[in-house]
Amino acid sequence: MKVTVVGAGNVGATCANVLLAQEVADEIVLLDIKQGVSEGKAMDMMQTANMLNLRSTVVGVTNDYAATAGSSVVVITSGIPRKPGMTREELIGVNAGIVKSVVSSILEHSPEAIFVIISNPMDTMTYLALKASGVPKNRIIGMGGMLDSNRFRYYISQALGVHPAEVDGFVIGGHGDKTMIPLHRFATYNGRAISELLPAEKIDEIVKATMVGGATLTGLLGTSAWYAPGAAGAMVVKAIVRNERKLVPCSVYLEGEYGQEDICIGVPVVLGANGVEAIVEYDLNEEEKALFVASADATRGTNAALADALK
Ligand code: 2OP
Repeated sequence: MKVTVVGAGNVGATCANVLLAQEVADEIVLLDIKQGVSEGKAMDMMQTANMLNLRSTVVGVTNDYAATAGSSVVVITSGIPRKPGMTREELIGVNAGIVKSVVSSILEHSPEAIFVIISNPMDTMTYLALKASGVPKNRIIGMGGMLDSNRFRYYISQALGVHPAEVDGFVIGGHGDKTMIPLHRFATYNGRAISELLPAEKIDEIVKATMVGGATLTGLLGTSAWYAPGAAGAMVVKAIVRNERKLVPCSVYLEGEYGQEDICIGVPVVLGANGVEAIVEYDLNEEEKALFVASADATRGTNAALADALK
């Protein structure tokens, strides 16, 4: 089993390192356009393999798509990251061209690949990858919901004073500061609704902190976060490679589900060997439905900027 990660920046390298650390694939190819960066990072990772008793292999290549041939899953992290004060949407002009060309180069060598998209604006890049390539919708997955749900769980855990692993919760909608929908009604601490444990104002604070979770980290770090985004990509890959049939929100193409069509946006999906095995429709209340419509409208607005890239 071979997995490729395109882009050896912070997010791509972290993703490859988590894939190695969890021995998700036998071979992990890390590809970047900058001469030597992938080779160096792969070499650095492989120098941990003996220490950590890991049997997977990471190979770094500079723009050599032939080396990615036969990949089952390909993670795309290419493009420029956010700087402090920038929205994910502001990256669209540069990143659309890059993502489109990466998808096409990958397909020349791995026509059956399943794609995991991390590049921002993530929902729009997922939609672009699908529309530009014609790859079936089950094989194109944006990882935003995996990341945002874990940020949500983190903020809930901080409010409760417990470890994030004790908390469940998920985020649907777009992967944007204004489009994310942390579904607090479904969030639990070991099976108990958080509304039984926290006051409404605290839950409201958690929801707001989750929505700007990426921007908070960009402000602290001076660039986009990478540990959780990279790990989120790797965990989507793991769910596919190991056919986990894991239920997690991801950005996928909708054809009527949740009342939306012709859009990629975060909804709960089952991930398995075929990529998206199913889209699961939760019974949203009127408020949640209205938030989802607004999120879809905003995401569609961003997608409109793809007109040139889709020519
Ligand atoms: C984030 O939210 C990079 O979009 C990514 O940190």
